[in-house]
Parts: sequence; C-alpha cells; structure tokens
Amino acid sequence: MAVLLPLLLGLLVSLLGGLYLLGMFRKRQPNEPPLDKGFIPWLGYGLDFRNDSAEFLRRMQKKHGDIFTVQIAGYYFTFIMDPLSFGPVVKEARAKLDFETFAQELVARVFGYHSAGNDHKMLEKASTKHLMGDGLILMTQAMMENLQNLMLHNVGSGSGERKWHEDGLFNYSYNIVFRAGYLALFGNEPAKKMGSTDLAKKYDRDHSEELFHEFRKYDRLFPRLAYAVLPPKDKIEAERLKRLFWNMLSVKKTMEKENISGWVSDQYQFRLEYGLPEYMQDRFMFLLLWASQGNTGPSCFWLLLYLMKHPEAMKAVFGEVQKIIKETGQEVKSGGPLLNLTRDMLLKTPILDSAVEETLRLTAAPVLIRAVKENMNLKMSSGKEFSIRKGDRVALFPYVAVQMDPEVHPEPEKFKYDRFLNEDGTKKSEFYKNGKRLKYFTMPWGAGTTICPGRFFAVNELKQFVFLLLTYFEFELINPNEEIPAIDPNRWGFGSMQPTHDLQFRYRLRY
Ligand code: HEM
Repeated sequence: MAVLLPLLLGLLVSLLGGLYLLGMFRKRQPNEPPLDKGFIPWLGYGLDFRNDSAEFLRRMQKKHGDIFTVQIAGYYFTFIMDPLSFGPVVKEARAKLDFETFAQELVARVFGYHSAGNDHKMLEKASTKHLMGDGLILMTQAMMENLQNLMLHNVGSGSGERKWHEDGLFNYSYNIVFRAGYLALFGNEPAKKMGSTDLAKKYDRDHSEELFHEFRKYDRLFPRLAYAVLPPKDKIEAERLKRLFWNMLSVKKTMEKENISGWVSDQYQFRLEYGLPEYMQDRFMFLLLWASQGNTGPSCFWLLLYLMKHPEAMKAVFGEVQKIIKETGQEVKSGGPLLNLTRDMLLKTPILDSAVEETLRLTAAPVLIRAVKENMNLKMSSGKEFSIRKGDRVALFPYVAVQMDPEVHPEPEKFKYDRFLNEDGTKKSEFYKNGKRLKYFTMPWGAGTTICPGRFFAVNELKQFVFLLLTYFEFELINPNEEIPAIDPNRWGFGSMQPTHDLQFRYRLRY
C-alpha cells in the first residue's frame, strides 16, 4: 500500500494535469461570452465545424446569440455574429489581435513556406503597385490576351463552321480563368525560344492545361490538408503535388518567361534582397499561385450559372456589354479584329458589377481569424463589453453573420442581379440592421489589413471572362431545367465556394 499510494497519487496528478491541458476545467468568467466546449475533450466542436461550418455556426448563434466562445481542436474561438460589431475586430491593433500567427502556421502546412518575416508588407507593396489603380491597365491587357489565346483558338475559323463544344460549366470556367490568370501573372513562353509566336502560344496552352490538371488534384485535397486530417495515402499525394508545383513554378523557370507581371517579379526581388533562399522562393511562388488562382475560377462559374438561370439578369448584362462595345466604336464580327476590352471599358458596367457582388455575396465565404495576444475587452454594438482571454482566437464568419441575414438582404438565398444597384442605376452601398447603417454588408474579400489585395484584379477577371463569353459565344445548359447545385460544405472558410457537382453546357461561336 505504501508503494501504491504515491503511484496512484502520481497518476491522479498526471490525469488532472492532462485534463487541465485539454481545457476540461475552463469555466466561463464574469463578463466573458457564453462558453460551449462541446462534449469531446480538446476536440470540442472540431468535427461539427469541419463538416459544415455554416450549419454549425447558425446552430450556435441560435443557442448563444451574437457572441460565443467554442472549443475547436484545442483552441477557444470567440465568434462574433453581429455585423454591427465587426469594426472593433477588423480595426484592432496587431499588438492585441494578430492575423499572422494563424496564417504562418497554415501556410507552412499547406505550401511548405516558412515566412520571411515581413511577408505581409512585401505583398501589400507589390499588390498596391501592380494589382490596383494604374497597375490594372497592364494586367487587364495581359489577361485579355491570354483569355483570347485560350478561348478563341479552337472554336472554328469563322468561315461558317460553328460547331458546338460540350463541357462541364464549372470545369470550363475554372480551367479558362485559372490558366489565363496564371499566364497573365507568371508570364508567357518567349516566342524566340519556341521559334514562332504560334508555337509559343501553343506551349502556353499546353503547359497551363497541365498545371491546371495538377492544381485541381491539390485543390480537392486542400480543405483536409488545411485541417491536418488527410489519411496517409492522400498525404503522400499532397506531398508529391507540393514538390511538383515547387518545381513547375520555380523561380529559375519563371524568370525565363516573358511578360512576367510586376506583382510576381517584384515579390521575387523583395525576397531576394531580404536573403530568402531560392528553394523557399520556389515555395512562395506556389503560395502566390494558390492565392491568385484558387478563387476566381469558381466565382466565374457561379456568376455565369446565375446569369444563365436568370434570363432577366442575362438580358440586362448582355445589353450593357453590347452598349459599351458600341460606344467604343468596335464591332465583333466574323474575320474582324479581336475585341479590345480595356480597363476603362470595365469601369462602366454598374449592372455587371452588381451581378458580381451578388454572386460573391452568395458564394464567397471566408473565415477571418485573429490570435489574441493579450487579455482584452470587446465592445459590441449593443454597448455590452466582453472580456477575451490571451491565447484564444477571435473569428468572424460574414457569410452567416451578414451575407445571408434576411434583415440585411431580404430573401437572402435568392440571386437578385440588381441587389447592389440604386434605382437611378448607381452602386448601392446602404444596407441596414436594427435601423443602423452597416459598414460591412458583404465581405467576400475579408476586411482590414488582411483584405484580399487581388480584389480589383479578380473583379476585372470575372468581368473580362463574362464579356468575352457573351460577345463571342452562344451557350446554354444541356439540361436547362437542372437545378443550381448546392454549395460543397467542406470548403467553408477558404474563400470562394465550389458546387457539389458540375453541370454540362455547350457553346459555339456566335459569328
Ligand atoms: C473571387 C476571387 C477572390 C476571392 C473571393 C478572394 C478572397 C480572399 C480572402 C477572403 C482573403 C483573406 C482575407 C482575410 O484573411 O481577411 C484573400 C487573401 C489574399 N488574396 Fe484573394 N481572393 C480572390 C482573388 C485573388 C486574386 C486574383 C489574387 C491575386 C492576383 C489574390 C491574392 C490574395 C493574396 C496574396 C492574399 C493574402 C493576403 C495577405 O496574406 O495579406 N486573391 N483573398
């Protein structure tokens, strides 16, 4: 007994210590948000959150109200579901709410990239210069040339042969926009190297097709990779794909291209000056590819599908497109010059802008996460203050909190192409909750310091794709009565959502 007692006591202490570390003894303190740890120690609501974050957060909001703390895989997340209270989180200084801690862990796991320290600043600098303002003039042109190479090279000569082509709408949209975006940012094969412009264009088409094919394999694994729950076989595949991308996008290969965007070349240069080793630069190129190409293609699919399923929206957008082409004195006809679609023309499309905004409201669903660096208070719009603990995380999920809120957006599940238009045809930006005007009424791009730096380029890409399709092609769903597919619940939180399945459509040249 004398020997057993210390052993039993030791076991008890270790057990209690373990349970403490698993968060079993955490209790809600005065002024803290409602606490819900779930039933499984440490994991808490990890499975519910991963299986369908939107459904889970709706359930929690119903149970606890507009602010609550839940345990997810060892972390305590405080979700704020009142969009009128987003401001303090979005604007809080980094000393208290930091975005980089979480992002760096994720980026190391999914891209093998270990941060250079001031990545965010370098990204911001390159993006402000090349993906916004005047930088967009060049990018629009590059995107246009690559879209035309991919979309118009094999659809018939315009000499009367107008064959129908069949494809999945999701596959087609994602494929074209991914490849054109990649070529516009990472550059083209030099004609000099290939012997002729035609051969260089063909190389671009083939090489980008191969890249897309591999990217989709990675894309499918991505949510489970990010949650670190891939089974061993898929883990090996993800590792193989990572290495393949580091190689295909290596700085050595990329820097041999021509027409490389300033966005990519500046980032390479900044990191070179910073002394980042070349193998890490290769990994960063992969991160740039994913950030720039993983969302726009799926968003193009939804936009096109909503337009096809809503004839009044399609008619309004088509009318706007035709008007702009006419105003610039251009005519698209068989054998005529290719359309010159400029950045200026894309600035005159309020109807298409509203349709894009509405598409993103319905299908872009990022989670914004910040690490809590010191104990702090969060003031809600109601005036009530809540204490938040150091070491926890604060999160926003605007899709449920505002984008689908019927008080802010009546009949939120419906696509209304003119939801973001005032009666006089100007952009609508006044939306209300509890009688108060909302600053954050839709947040497909996130907000604050981490807001997507590619958002203006992305909107341009969406508009260019639709413009070209409407101008050059006739297209229709193979089964016009097929319902709009549901959103795949596995991807909540990662940006643009994908459908549970594809729909077949067909297209052919108009002229
Ligand atoms: C429809 C298309 C797109 C959507 C919905 C989207 C959405 C987002 C979101 C939600 C974030 C994270 C924001 C946050 O954490 O607060 C983000 C980050 C980012 N996006 Fe986009 N994005 C799109 C297209 C693009 C494009 C075309 C580019 C580049 C050409 C791009 C580059 C980036 C980069 C580099 C980041 C990381 C920023 C940082 O860490 O500071 N995105 N995007």
